[in-house]
Amino acid sequence: MQGARRFAFSGLGIALAATLLVSAPNAGAQAAKAWMDPKLDPDERARLLEQQMTLDERIGLLHGPMAMPFRTAPPPEALGSAGYIPGIPRLGIPALQESDASLGLTNPMGVRKGEGGTPMPSGLAVAASFNPEVAYAGGRMIGHEAWSAGFNVLLGGGANLTREPRGGRNFEYLGEDPLLTGTLAGEAVRGTQSEHVISTVKHFALNGQETLRHTLDVRISDAAMRESDLLAFELAIETGRPGAVMCAYNLVNAAYACDNDALLNGMLKRDWAYPGWVMSDWGAVPGLQAAVHGLDQQSGEQLDSAVHFGEPLKAAVGSGAIPAARVSDMSRRILRSMFAAGLFEHPPQRGPVDYAADAAVAQRAAEEGVVLLKNEGGLLPLAKAGRKIVLIGGHADAGVLSGGGSSQVVAPEGPALRVPVAGEGELPGPFRAMVYHASSPLTALRGLAPQDEISFQAGDYPSAAAAAARQADVAIVFATQWMTEGEDAPDLTLPNGQDQLIAAVAAANPNTIVVLETGGPVLMPWLGQVRAVIEAWYPGARGGEALARILVGDVSPSGRLPMTFPASEAQLPHPALPGAGLPARSHIEADYDIEGSDVGYRWFARTGAEPLFPFGYGLSYASFAYADLKATGGDGVELSFEVKNTGAVAAREAPQAYLLSAAGKPVTRLVGFAKIELQPGETKRVAFHPDPRLLGRWDTARHGWRIEPGDYRIAVGPSSKAPALQATVRLRGGPVRLAAARSNP
Ligand code: BGC
Repeated sequence: MQGARRFAFSGLGIALAATLLVSAPNAGAQAAKAWMDPKLDPDERARLLEQQMTLDERIGLLHGPMAMPFRTAPPPEALGSAGYIPGIPRLGIPALQESDASLGLTNPMGVRKGEGGTPMPSGLAVAASFNPEVAYAGGRMIGHEAWSAGFNVLLGGGANLTREPRGGRNFEYLGEDPLLTGTLAGEAVRGTQSEHVISTVKHFALNGQETLRHTLDVRISDAAMRESDLLAFELAIETGRPGAVMCAYNLVNAAYACDNDALLNGMLKRDWAYPGWVMSDWGAVPGLQAAVHGLDQQSGEQLDSAVHFGEPLKAAVGSGAIPAARVSDMSRRILRSMFAAGLFEHPPQRGPVDYAADAAVAQRAAEEGVVLLKNEGGLLPLAKAGRKIVLIGGHADAGVLSGGGSSQVVAPEGPALRVPVAGEGELPGPFRAMVYHASSPLTALRGLAPQDEISFQAGDYPSAAAAAARQADVAIVFATQWMTEGEDAPDLTLPNGQDQLIAAVAAANPNTIVVLETGGPVLMPWLGQVRAVIEAWYPGARGGEALARILVGDVSPSGRLPMTFPASEAQLPHPALPGAGLPARSHIEADYDIEGSDVGYRWFARTGAEPLFPFGYGLSYASFAYADLKATGGDGVELSFEVKNTGAVAAREAPQAYLLSAAGKPVTRLVGFAKIELQPGETKRVAFHPDPRLLGRWDTARHGWRIEPGDYRIAVGPSSKAPALQATVRLRGGPVRLAAARSNP
């Protein structure tokens, strides 16, 4: 992990007193180009370069349009993507070519003819891997594809906590826990930036739902947000050092997230000493004053009511309403990130991409992210016994489902299927289609189980599906739930009557397996009637192959739920989705202090409600024994323990450590996780050194993290509800020294 030095930024925050030169450029310095000396640090290089810029050049860096035909034609130099900021050739400053991002390189509305990207599995699948290496490899793969297509900024790093299980964008994010989300988002960013492509983290902050996303006002206390959603961002930023932070659409405590002094100037830039720039989400800038409140760049400007950061900003600097030093700070932050990620030294080179190698990265993520939820009597893996197997529904003959919206990736070979979605939504028509990636579970399974007789039944009529199931030894129903940016699910029920389909098949065949391709948790009224359930999320470019390998046992499942699966909506902190049914752009408040920092499994622990499946849960084809927990306290916690594969097959395990009580008070919090691979009979020792912020609380009065002195009870085991071993340590307590925490997060 990187140390606190990364936060040592000379032109910190809103340093309005910073050196300011709005004068014409110095011709001598132009020739010398001192800022091109790579031995200088990015702060110094940015400072030197920014001094050479005219006010118009500075302003030019601070806003830009969408790079696709939408209301206006994109600039001719723009590659065609989400966004574009022109460069400054006179000073050798490259343009920012910005593309979406987290799940792969996108090509919105096919604006770049014939180009595609390798689709990673959804964020929840990556999170379910509980493996930072999987996130890093994905971020790096996408970064390289972006760089090879001419892009130098990726709008990735989705790090919103999934507070709302019905949320339309949960599939883009990494679940409900700050440590898991922060670590994996940070690793994905680190991977992308290793390819000299700047990555964002987004959407800062508390963008918990899509319904009324432009007008929802999230109300939450300082301590509650710092211990939950902001902690995820804080950890992601420390791990990944993203060049930019994208602020969110919604309001937080009565101020738009992109116009939010407390969030942007206060927490991000002052408290965390964040040295990069804040870019707006597309159409999220309410006005010019956002520049004073910490926003550095207006993106997708034609979606806002005006190009606030263009002429109006220039006029405000001219009149003195906005200090020119602020404009210098905004520009310097952008340049600093460009230097830090190597955009000057390593400009994108268009070139061929090894799509087979990239698909292998996506397949590994799927194989580690698929979660086995139920496996009664060891029905899985399928015995290679020449049986009759029928696959039912979910277009499993053609491919695997993906989620919709700005993150939609289409593979280079095109989709297997594009199924238009009826109705009107927040996003324009071309985005309203279910895209199935060309990775057919049917073909993959036939390839791996040639001795079996495998057929497909569309699943449109439960009676026909049941008839097919009756003829088979095993029936595998593929159930889908399409989720998209801009819309939430009204409830957690599988859509299109698929519960009836599953029930009918289960009644016809005792060996029924359900494979879920969903954007998040769903209810399972048929759970008691089926023998096995697999949560495959949206499994990406090689999802069919990954599923087939798991079904036949070539891979033992090792995914763990990154969010709780509730047993009913009534168990949620918000049983009714805030704002559901209200007209678009209605202004309402959502009270996030109901759950506060007790997001997801912490809420279930607080209320005592029994979920359908708990956070961290997932089955394996092997079995594991935990032993020899050693735990020490004092100034911090050190934990180590052994995990042994007691099963018959090689498998990965995701050991987890949870805080159960802090200074005598009950708490539930993930404080450590790992992913290890074990051969049968093999033992490995796992060690955790939990970040002190996970042991403490945010003390609003003292404006810092604090650990209460006393006894801390910690459990390790395979999920949040299975504490295999427990220990109690005594902590001295006191204020958390953040520099120390950041040097060893
Ligand atoms: C989304 C962002 C995305 C941007 C650019 C917005 O609608 O919220 O996540 O990066 O569009 O496509």
